Amino acid sequence: MSTNKYHSYEYILTEQPLPRVLQITLNRPNARNALSKKLLSEIANALTIATEDDDIRCVVLTGDNDAFSAGADIKEMPENGIPMFAEVKRLSAWKTIENFPKPLIAAINGYALGGGCELALLCDISICGENAQFGTPEIKISAFPGDGGTQRLPRLIGKSRAMYMILTGDKIDAKLANQWGLVSEVLPIEKTIIRALEIAETISEYSPVALEMAKAEIIMSFSKPLDESLSLERKMLLWQTDDHDEGIAAFVEKRKPKYKGR
Ligand code: CAA
Repeated sequence: MSTNKYHSYEYILTEQPLPRVLQITLNRPNARNALSKKLLSEIANALTIATEDDDIRCVVLTGDNDAFSAGADIKEMPENGIPMFAEVKRLSAWKTIENFPKPLIAAINGYALGGGCELALLCDISICGENAQFGTPEIKISAFPGDGGTQRLPRLIGKSRAMYMILTGDKIDAKLANQWGLVSEVLPIEKTIIRALEIAETISEYSPVALEMAKAEIIMSFSKPLDESLSLERKMLLWQTDDHDEGIAAFVEKRKPKYKGR
């Protein structure tokens, strides 16, 4: 099922393969889905619409079998050199992805390099195909992963592994990425998107308000000291919602809950 709520984009495809699930497919195969300014802003635009779209509870982000994304568009760099990375529009697109409040699942086949790896790091659940390769090769062009990579990678996989990836620019394969916690599952290539949609389907049946609160709390654990985030968790738990009442009632009455998102 395609969805016409979303604009028709040049470098991404949007469809609604399941009720309440939006799939965004990066569609710049000739450039290994390199994140040009346009491509990045299209992802941000689709996520902005999805944020307000009550029909969407979960988003799956994917590429093609060769590449999730080969990172920032190196060919755009000569226009404006590295300072292009600090452009307001570009930064604001990254911020939109970072702040997307609904669950975001990455289904990764092939390369996830540089900004492509950083994009995967912004997703809430990442799974990959056996051919996936992760890397931060920026050092090879005298740069470093400056779209969150130097901060998120060590938090996720630890200092020594992050230093290894960032300072050597070497790629790691799917098996190692799974061992290091960059992804939670490795699948045969043709199963990656199927499994991502299966996970999305499960998630999309839950209360959107509970999903957003759970996501926000987990994200908070990366940025706040434990005592502060624990006390915020307790406060959020006290926020009684209609959906929570409905969840309890449905359990007791042995029926499927009908969540309204409040
Ligand atoms: N930017 C722009 N174009 C890219 C690109 C990128 N990041 N990655 C690949 N492409 C283009 C290639 O230039 C090539 O275009 P042409 O056909 O016009 O020559 C096309 O995609 C296919 O690429 P390859 O022929 O190289 O395909 P391959 O399968 O042999 O290799 C690859 C794939 C390993 C991803 C290789 O293309 C590669 O190493 N790409 C660069 C990856 C990289 O360095 N990423 C980090 C970018 S910097 C960043 O993210 C952030 C930062 O600096 C702060």
